[in-house]
Amino acid sequence: MKMRTLLAVVMVLAFAGTALAEPIVIKFSHVVAVDTPKGQAAEYFKKLAEERTKGAVKVEVYPNSQLYKDKEEVEALQLGSVQMLAPSLAKFGPLGVKEFELFDLPFIFDGYEQLHKVTEGPVGKKLLAKLEPKGLLGLAYWDNGFKVMSANKEIRTPEQMKGLKVRIQSSKILDAQMRQLKSIPQVLAFSEVYQALQTGVVDGTENPPSNLYTQKMHEVQKYVATTNHGYLGYAVIVNKKFWEGLPADIRVTLEGAMAEATTYANDIAKRKNEEDLAAVKASGKSEILELSAEERAAWKKALVPVHEKMASRVGKDLIAEVHEVTGFQK
Ligand code: LMR
Repeated sequence: MKMRTLLAVVMVLAFAGTALAEPIVIKFSHVVAVDTPKGQAAEYFKKLAEERTKGAVKVEVYPNSQLYKDKEEVEALQLGSVQMLAPSLAKFGPLGVKEFELFDLPFIFDGYEQLHKVTEGPVGKKLLAKLEPKGLLGLAYWDNGFKVMSANKEIRTPEQMKGLKVRIQSSKILDAQMRQLKSIPQVLAFSEVYQALQTGVVDGTENPPSNLYTQKMHEVQKYVATTNHGYLGYAVIVNKKFWEGLPADIRVTLEGAMAEATTYANDIAKRKNEEDLAAVKASGKSEILELSAEERAAWKKALVPVHEKMASRVGKDLIAEVHEVTGFQK
């Protein structure tokens, strides 16, 4: 009898201990809308992580710059205020890992297939490893897509960009790209773009259709040109100390969830951008300038010199390596 009582007490205590154990919280901050490739993949990761750790991990996703704007995000991760981010690859340049600005070079990839040769190959791995001395671990690359150019005047040709004030993310390559077009680049946080366009602080911007549409930028831009002149994508990063301090079984489970969320992200990215471009068109708020192959070739011709001009910043050998891997053609 005594033995049974003791057993019962032990079981009750064990149960209470499990129930009371605080979950490990992963704050995942990002700047875009929920209904974007990144926003959807973050939600999917949350679902898998919470299900598979049976509640031992709680993922709190904060979209739309709710917690941090572009520049503050990475610093917050380094300080441990958040545990997971998926910043655009451009963000690592200002952090001192300039090689990532490779992804900003105009026309460096002709499409997702060429891009994946880099992100899923040795170059992609090599670049993620460069984040470790910054206290960060790169877990995965998540796609968004190829950028359209928008403005309040017709911009069918690269020459028509002359003199326009254009919002860019903070990136020396994007700055050089806009100067190559004789536009005036202006760095603004993502959360400020809509208002800057609406009030005329800037005349135009670039982003994949999913960002353009979900931020309603098309409502304050008269023309959207399908230049597909550059790529925008992300690296999912975590605070290295936090990640390595997780119980091994939890970390392995989370890595599995991340691998699946990555497949999901990269599966939906292309479709989402196509749908959102169609939605911009259907809205009738801005005119889509569908560029012919010849028209797009003119943009490429105008912008490819940026590869050489910025080679010393990104790394001449790295650019050559990527050209080789993708079979780049001028
Ligand atoms: C931008 O600032 O335009 C993008 O990096 C936003 C994002 O995260 O997609």
